[in-house]
Amino acid sequence: QGILWVSAESGRIKGYDWKIHDDEAFTGFMSKNGWVDVDGKTNGNLGGATKVKIVEAREDKNEFFFPGFIDTHIHAPQYPNAGLFGSSTLLDWLETYTFPVESGFGTQSTVKGQSQAQKPEEAPEKALHIYDQVVSRTLAHGTTCASYFATIHVPATNALAAICQTRGQRAFIGRVCMDEPAFCPEYYKDLSAEDSLSATKDTIHYIHTLDPKGTLVKPIVTPRFAPTCSRPSLTALGQLAASYNPPLHIQTHIAENKNEVALVKDLFPEAESYAAVYDQHNLLTPRTILAHAVHLSKEERTLVKARDAKISHCPASNSALGSGIAPVRDYLNEGITVGLGTDVSGGYSPSILEAARQACLSSRLLGHTKDFVDYHSHDGCESKSVGLEKLSVAESLYLATRGGAAVVNMEDDIGGFEIGMIMDAQLIQLGSVRMNGVSPLSATANMNGGPCTSLIQSGPVGNVDIFGTESWEEKIQKWVWSGDDRNVKAVWVGGRMVHWRV
Ligand code: GUN
Ligand code: FE
Repeated sequence: QGILWVSAESGRIKGYDWKIHDDEAFTGFMSKNGWVDVDGKTNGNLGGATKVKIVEAREDKNEFFFPGFIDTHIHAPQYPNAGLFGSSTLLDWLETYTFPVESGFGTQSTVKGQSQAQKPEEAPEKALHIYDQVVSRTLAHGTTCASYFATIHVPATNALAAICQTRGQRAFIGRVCMDEPAFCPEYYKDLSAEDSLSATKDTIHYIHTLDPKGTLVKPIVTPRFAPTCSRPSLTALGQLAASYNPPLHIQTHIAENKNEVALVKDLFPEAESYAAVYDQHNLLTPRTILAHAVHLSKEERTLVKARDAKISHCPASNSALGSGIAPVRDYLNEGITVGLGTDVSGGYSPSILEAARQACLSSRLLGHTKDFVDYHSHDGCESKSVGLEKLSVAESLYLATRGGAAVVNMEDDIGGFEIGMIMDAQLIQLGSVRMNGVSPLSATANMNGGPCTSLIQSGPVGNVDIFGTESWEEKIQKWVWSGDDRNVKAVWVGGRMVHWRV
């Protein structure tokens, strides 16, 4: 609980006080609620800012602030498929569910010189609505920053960027590159490597025009994964990212599934490993987000670490598609930067809280897997680390915030509440006992407060501190294990309120 002072000019945190002030003068001052002039009054606390916004979390309402969540890997066009995967695994899941849904976001005519037809308005109306829904739902779950995969279609990808900009969600927007006929379906692929590159440039140009300073929305170079990309395409995308100053971010998938790893070995016999394929094309950089990384070899981990590439851990997806369990503790011990991803719709939920929960759960099963135990008992590995792989709730929340911030190279700006950081925050409200003077045994109580009323359904659920004696650690544990979007009362990005629960 407490109070945050945020600069009106920069949206950065100027000060805070986690203790509740109940003296009258201060309460009156706060009740102005909004951007206020503070003159000299409390200026000492505020780093010289004269215009600040004051936002308050109230202990008596069981509220607290938490840094906004960072989703380091999510496929916006797959949102309609969330929860739909049957018993498929990665490669047949792509063919059965994923390529079909993505192909509906436009037409394949992304040929050079057609940029006048690349406006967001050219995207199918359904695509616009789905993207609007994705941004709404992720914001409602407290995601203040997301790294999105879109589709191969420029107009719809540009529309996703425009929607993030309008709705105020911090985002990296990737037009998906996939030109390799050996793997991509005929009905959903770039027509050539050149076409893929020029369409990618169109999107980058659009986003740079939309948000020239990259305050909120930035482009990210997105080779889907090695099997969908020709060598010339991989080379060109590596060069394209490096041609900017600072270099553009890059995102892709790596070693998610064992059949996929075998396929890459077949398709790229010249490369020593999956990670080496990306490295040979200058796609392993400090600004690269590698999604999944479930089955990396020891050599690949060393390479990822040496290039300072980042890992997006997607535990819900890895369980749903039966991909395996990424050894997150090992990565952290090896000094690799890790954040969390929902990987909608490999992941069934747009919630990073769910991803944090699944990160804890899957880490608790990791020590029971043969691969993990084998890895830790071969030469040079410390078998004693078996047992230490379990992630705590605090660690999973670290991955969801500061870890994610480091994955997108924004650790100085977002993911925490240090003074000077940007206010990307969520106001969490845990449950409380509804004592409104009406006996739960009365007929009126059943009508107004029964389990089926919308009041209960829209408010926070569970996680009630019934005796008012819980420690913060206990409250946070209950939030992670039993919370959902109903606990997210409001969300700010850059000091702007971008979602509130009604
Ligand atoms: N590998 C290549 N494409 C995809 C995708 O869309 N989702 C996941 N989870 N893995 C992929
Ligand atoms: Fe993915």
